[in-house]
Amino acid sequence: MTDGTQGLVISNLAVAYGRKKVVHSFSLGPIPRGAVLTLLGPNAAGKSTLLRGIAGLGSASGRILLDGLDLSRLSRVERAKKIAYMPQSQPPGIALPVIEAVMSACSGVMGREASMHQAYDALARLGASDLSMQLLSELSGGQRQMVALAQAVVRRPDVLLLDEPTSALDLKHQIRVMESAAALAREQGAIVIAVLHDVPLALRYADTVAMLKDGELKAHGEPERIITPHLLGEIYGIEARVEHCSHGRIQIMVDGTLHS
Ligand SMILES: Nc1ncnc2c1ncn2[C@@H]1O[C@H](COP(=O)(O)OP(=O)(O)OP(=O)(O)O)[C@@H](O)[C@H]1O
Ligand SMILES: [Mg+2]
Repeated sequence: MTDGTQGLVISNLAVAYGRKKVVHSFSLGPIPRGAVLTLLGPNAAGKSTLLRGIAGLGSASGRILLDGLDLSRLSRVERAKKIAYMPQSQPPGIALPVIEAVMSACSGVMGREASMHQAYDALARLGASDLSMQLLSELSGGQRQMVALAQAVVRRPDVLLLDEPTSALDLKHQIRVMESAAALAREQGAIVIAVLHDVPLALRYADTVAMLKDGELKAHGEPERIITPHLLGEIYGIEARVEHCSHGRIQIMVDGTLHS
């Protein structure tokens, strides 16, 4: 049964580690299909914990609806088909060729031939085809991160959760990753939620941006509407100017930290 609402709706999501509550009553949505939401906030704000809660990992309460369907009613396997989650740090690479590692992310969802096709396609879309035959254990940090993204997108999820997907990447690959994520949203009607620390990058690719601090949603909306020096001061404790470059993109000039 569904209630007919399209997109992702998160209601009163709370996520804890044992008795330690980290995310408190988080509500957002509907996030429409085809949209990219970037999630910003200081260290320890609860961003990774929130993504884990949306992915169905760990101890969470509240409701998450995708196109009106309550995800908590799905089996782990069914939920994993709809939601792909790329964690902030990757496990150490094993001595497995990259193509096999990306194909393994499709196991249980499609056969070997289809997996191979999808895996080559995922790597090609990221401009990482040249990594296909390299061993996972012999990649650089940035290459490992690109492969982790390929593993997340290869099953063509409805919801793609990316935790700092560009943290190890050079400037060209940062752009490539965010453009691939945005293309997945546009072309396949997926919903992308990406945690980023690079504020200008986050604003450039976001349809909407959410600001999290102390486990609570402090602001949400279109970048142009919500990003102000006051908000940046409140969220990050910095003194900053918000300007526009000659291409009209938002630039953040940080002048210092605020003393509280
Ligand atoms: N496994 C865990 N057990 C207990 N507490 C945890 C665990 N993981 C994270 N925390 C705590 O939860 C809070 C939020 O952590 P989280 O990793 O979600 O922050 P974050 O916003 O992703 O930060 P960062 O930008 O540094 O990645 C922190 O106080 C952290 O100490
Ligand atoms: Mg984190």
